[in-house]
Parts: sequence; structure tokens; C-alpha cells
Amino acid sequence: MAAKLAEKCIGVDISPEACRLATLNAALNGASDIVEIKNGNLFEPVEGITFDAIYCNPPFLPVPDEVRFPTSGSGGPDGLDIVRRIWKEADRFLRKNGVGTMWFQALGNDIAPFWLGEFQAIARQNEWSVRILVSSRMPLSFQAQVVAETASTVNSRDAADLCLLWQKLYRDLQATFLYDCLLWFQKADEFNLEVHNLLSTWTQHDIPTVIETDVNSRSAANGRSWLARKLLAYSDGHQSVHDILQKLIERDPERLGRSAEKLLSLSLTELEYLERNRYIKHVIRH
Ligand SMILES: C[S@@+](CC[C@H](N)C(=O)[O-])C[C@H]1O[C@@H](n2cnc3c(N)ncnc32)[C@H](O)[C@@H]1O
Repeated sequence: MAAKLAEKCIGVDISPEACRLATLNAALNGASDIVEIKNGNLFEPVEGITFDAIYCNPPFLPVPDEVRFPTSGSGGPDGLDIVRRIWKEADRFLRKNGVGTMWFQALGNDIAPFWLGEFQAIARQNEWSVRILVSSRMPLSFQAQVVAETASTVNSRDAADLCLLWQKLYRDLQATFLYDCLLWFQKADEFNLEVHNLLSTWTQHDIPTVIETDVNSRSAANGRSWLARKLLAYSDGHQSVHDILQKLIERDPERLGRSAEKLLSLSLTELEYLERNRYIKHVIRH
């Protein structure tokens, strides 16, 4: 991206290893002349410089205090430690009309991600023009298992034990989902905010389809994803995933009939997660 669009690009990472990799990456893309990689803590290495654009993919996973977790992923107990610091500091480093773009996942409840209110106050103060895209969400009952599995590789406790710590953290925070969020903010002269919720905006032109994949390939969590591998259901924005699922089963009883009972016993949120995160590319649009 830097090679195509920028005259000059500075990348910052706190990990020397990530910096070496980014330097190599720039060279592989023929962008060594314009890309400079600096090792350091957030904005410290670029103090005094302003930018037309700031892109970041910060660590954002909520991690209980007592658990070790790789720096690349840990966002502290509520996931927002680094994200928040970027929000608070970014304005000083943006030129007029400069834009910040951040992709991250964040905790929320059944209604919305938690961070919207807090961010809105910062954006209002800075007079940013903001667009937020909430594209999908993962039930934390599922996510806790996945993240505990990862953590078990760097802690002396096993995954089941660690999972209990995540479950407690989420209970204490009253969080039920981890939301995929894309945030775009521009240093403008007036505060403005648009939130685009794509969680249920499929149209009637998005035709549900069934895909065949390898049922034996490794499942992501507790054996459920093999079901997802057999089935794809898309809502048209008016019907529930469950309804679409029912229709798919009726349409293709031979292929899906035997799994129907199990499929229909999955909760809506689990289906929603499987649908949005694994098979989004397979929607047929006319
Ligand atoms: C999710 S990874 C993204 C890596 C890479 N920038 C990309 O977009 O593919 C998050 C990165 O943030 C780095 N990081 C974590 N804390 C940081 C901090 N305080 N200052 C700068 N970088 C940090 C980690 O070392 C890790 O490489």
C-alpha cells in the first residue's frame, strides 16, 4: 500500500522482530526507498512528525491480568489498552484532513460494542469526522475457548483452566460478543459520526448457497465447525439465520437432512458467527 500510494511511509512496532520482518516486507515489495521502520512504543519514535494517514492494526484481545499473552495480541483486561492510547494521541500526529484507520475487535453486549460512547467523546473533542463499520461479531462463549487454547501455549495452565479465567473476565464486564470493527476518522473542522451496522443487512439479492468442503479438516472449536463446513446460510435481512437454515435443509434434504437436527440445535449466535466469519466470501450476488 505504501509503495503504491505514499511518498514516504514510517512504520512503528515495539517488537524488534516485527520491525525486521516489516523491513524485509518493504524490500520484497520494492518499497525500501520510501518505507522506514522504527522500533518503539506507539507514537514515541515519530514525535514531532505529522501524517496524512495513520493505519493501525493494534493488539486488541481482552486478556485477564494474571495470564501471559503475546504482545502482538494483548490489549489488556478490556482489550482497549493500546487502542485507547492511539485514540488519545492520534490527533497530534495528523495533518489537517488527515485520516486515521484502525481495524480491531472489541467487546460488547447483545446490542452494541462497548467502546462507541467513549470514542465518541474523544472524536467530539477533536472535531473528527468519523465512520464506523461494525461488520460481524463472535459469541464470547466460543471466543473464550479459542483464545484460551492460544494462551495455553505460553502459560503453564491448560486451556480448560484458562478458559474459566476468560469466562470470568467476560462475566465481570457483562460482555457477550467480540465485535469486528473498522474505524475511520478524519481531522476535520466539525464533529460528525456515522455508524454502519452490517450485522443484518443482507438483501434479497444475496442468495443462500451450500458449499462442500472437507469435513475432516481440523475444526476450530469443539467439533462444531464441521457443521459449518457443510452448510452456508445467508439471511436476506428479513429472515433469521435459523429460517434460512430451515429452507436450505428443505431444499437439499439428501445432503443436509441427516445433519438437520444438529444444525437446528445450534444457537442463533453460533450460526451467525459461523456464517459471517467463515463463509462471507461465498455469498452469490446478482
Ligand atoms: C495485531 S499485530 C499487527 C502487526 C502488523 N502491524 C500488521 O498489521 O500486520 C499488533 C502489533 O502491535 C505491536 N505492538 C504492541 N504494542 C505496541 C506498542 N506499545 N507500540 C508499538 N507497537 C506495539 C506488536 O508487536 C504487533 O506487532
